[in-house]
Amino acid sequence: MSIKRLLSLIILAIFAMAVYIQCKPGNSMQASNNTTLSQKGLKDYYKDFFPIGVAVRPESLKGADSALIVREFNSLTAENAMKMGPIHPKENEYYWKDADAIVDFAQAHHMRVRGHNLLWHNQAPRWLFTDSATGKQVTKKVLLQRLKDHITTVVNRYKGKIYAWDVVNEAINDDTSSRFMRNSLWYQICGDDFIPKAFEYAHAADPKAVLFYNDYNTERASKRDKVYRLLKQLIDAKVPINAVGLQAHWNVNDPTGEQLRESIEKFSSLGLKVQITELDISVYPSGLPRPAPAAAGTAPTPPPPAVFTPEMEQKQLEQYKMAFNTFREYKKNITGVTFWNISDRSSWLDTRGRKNFPLLFDQDRQPKKAYWEVVKF
Ligand code: GLA
Repeated sequence: MSIKRLLSLIILAIFAMAVYIQCKPGNSMQASNNTTLSQKGLKDYYKDFFPIGVAVRPESLKGADSALIVREFNSLTAENAMKMGPIHPKENEYYWKDADAIVDFAQAHHMRVRGHNLLWHNQAPRWLFTDSATGKQVTKKVLLQRLKDHITTVVNRYKGKIYAWDVVNEAINDDTSSRFMRNSLWYQICGDDFIPKAFEYAHAADPKAVLFYNDYNTERASKRDKVYRLLKQLIDAKVPINAVGLQAHWNVNDPTGEQLRESIEKFSSLGLKVQITELDISVYPSGLPRPAPAAAGTAPTPPPPAVFTPEMEQKQLEQYKMAFNTFREYKKNITGVTFWNISDRSSWLDTRGRKNFPLLFDQDRQPKKAYWEVVKF
């Protein structure tokens, strides 16, 4: 063999080795020293399991965030843009721009969209509950008619583009008392009738949409039992509900794997599909006090420096690993997993004087160690 031929063979072998290292599952980004990112994202690792989604704001749909979204996710949720207040600020006025932008982006990138949400006690516009002539609270009849108009209009607009809706968000009482329903304005005005009605209106507007009840702390026994009771009542009454959303705003030690399994099994036993709809894992354990608010008349103390410590990193990685091991194990029951926000650059948990680091991408939008645990299977 000529020297020239030998040299070309050696070069070819080196090239083949480099391609192998680059493409080896779980290794692609590390091998490239975090400079060139592989095109493989969470959605690809999980293609045989369930779609992987993310909650977004319209401003994330351009630049570096948008590139990350397209590479990693195949489902979108509007963080705020489809909630009653933002999308329907006045009785005769809808604001579609932001919600449309999210749906258009999803369509352009072949992603699905979960609609969030059609009824919630928070971020609901004041006008909804108020009689504009008298300024007094509206009657049940008026409120249900307004709810029907709202749901029909919003669901109709996105029919065929939004495959699932969180119809009712957080209607169950959240303390450990025996109180069942949250004492919201919805409840005060309508009793618990607003729940079946909301599902009926949504189903009438789009019979193909998958309809969810969505709530948090669903892994805690007392809340889980109440949510189960509500879901069973709805099913027994033949209300068109198809699925339950476990929000999954968790932290490094809550919930345990056992609590999570119990919830998935208990809700699935009703014949409902389950989705993880708002996943993030706070690095602060339950019960850790927030920085004290400033005393009246004094300047607020600046928040402590935001440090993602190796201990936080390790605990969070273990919790993410437990979560995704469990999700994969229940792939027959789980039809989607959505993260609440994109990266640690910005999370709804960065509030009240405390920075958090709850997601799989760091503040430079690079995958964290927890990411590699989640895709290692
Ligand atoms: C709840 C809602 C979400 C979001 C989070 C916090 O979980 O369902 O829409 O508002 O609170 O931001």
